Amino acid sequence: IDIPRNIAVFGAGYIGLVTGACFAQLGHRVVVRDIQPERIRMLHSGEVPFFEPGLGDLIAQNKERLSFTLDAREALRDAEAVYVCVDTPPTASGDADLSRIWSVVDALEATSPLVAVVVKSTVPVGTGARVRAALDEAGLGHVGYASNPEFTAEGRAVEDFLHPDRVVIGASDEATAHWVRDLYDGIGAPVEIMDVASAEMVKLASNALLATKITFINEIAAVCEATGADIRRVSRAVGMDHRLGPHFLHAGLGYGGSCFPKDTRALRAMASNSGYPFQLLNAVIEVNELQPRRAVQRLKEELGGLRGRRVALLGLTFKPGTDDMREAPSAVIASRLLAEGAEVTGWDPMGRPGPVEPWTSVTRHASPLEAVTGADAAIVVTEWPELRAADWPTAARRMRRPLLFDGRNLLDPATLSQAGFTYMSVGRATRPTA
Ligand code: UDX
Repeated sequence: IDIPRNIAVFGAGYIGLVTGACFAQLGHRVVVRDIQPERIRMLHSGEVPFFEPGLGDLIAQNKERLSFTLDAREALRDAEAVYVCVDTPPTASGDADLSRIWSVVDALEATSPLVAVVVKSTVPVGTGARVRAALDEAGLGHVGYASNPEFTAEGRAVEDFLHPDRVVIGASDEATAHWVRDLYDGIGAPVEIMDVASAEMVKLASNALLATKITFINEIAAVCEATGADIRRVSRAVGMDHRLGPHFLHAGLGYGGSCFPKDTRALRAMASNSGYPFQLLNAVIEVNELQPRRAVQRLKEELGGLRGRRVALLGLTFKPGTDDMREAPSAVIASRLLAEGAEVTGWDPMGRPGPVEPWTSVTRHASPLEAVTGADAAIVVTEWPELRAADWPTAARRMRRPLLFDGRNLLDPATLSQAGFTYMSVGRATRPTA
């Protein structure tokens, strides 16, 4: 195999930078190109534009094989593979906006030593066929096309890339599929080779099924609350069935982040555009949107109204271990509380909400203890480990009313009760009957 190869990665976001750094780690020579000057400036000075464990070290370790540029031509000059890792944000209808993909395709030239164009961005099924046609039209008929979706989760992206459950490659011809597979030489995971459309679908189906699993357990949790069952015991024992598995059965305030909300809507829009109304997925999306609102409603009932109450949000990012605030349930909760006339305070060890609503109306504090001082209720929105270790007895004393809504079932009810709290959670009755 003629390794190492020259790879141009377009897009220095989560996926692009992780892909670039990991391919460099596997021995390839990589140029990462982005259109944002600030991003490239940071990368040149050894900074990573967002928090991702291990990524900064990986970039530093591989700096002789890894460079960054704003210039598409420079990135393409020696490139044998172009990896498209740009974002595909949702349009108002939920369809994916593919304009950034098209601007990469438009920048490709017949002069470079290009062998394959590979799309890692999540796209609707059929995108590959359209890119293929565009390549043919641009005189790049000899260049192979592949879809190579990425399944990494934030906070463990490097680990996921280098030790994946599987590598999925969709290509229209076998030679391209094998050429792309060889880029992963050194990774001991099974490689699934298939047609382009199927590879595009694998990514959407995987994320939709994970989102469905979370939503299903959130609905079981609601039934547990009403009937006196304990969701933690239920989840644990349900997950021991090897056909179901223990993962993604943790009830909470709903899924957020940059992938699940966007990809489920994109799959729903794609299915509907192709004439199939995806009813189950539709329900998943609706139930997930309701999940944080239900929590606010339960809190409102417990407090006998929210007007004039002070509520502390503990954790603001969509999950722990990241600074990412995209589609975080905290934003929905804060907006609902403010709309009901509550005063909202917040704490997060990493999240930096921008100067936009609802965050401009939320008072941020440097510690959970400061955030809950004088509050009528606190909500654990993100399961940060700091909260498990917090001084809850002191917190209870500093609150106007010691009410804790544990939106992630992070804490032990008995300990919190001993600390003086009225403890509410997801999937367990607030006041056990038996
Ligand atoms: C996800 C997928 O895991 C990944 O494969 C895909 O490539 C991108 O989307 P990510 O968005 O980084 O990754 O986060 P993940 O850890 O999967 O969590 C997604 C959301 O689901 C979070 O809001 C999390 O709090 C929630 N979740 C997850 C639950 O509510 N319960 C669970 O049991 C698991």
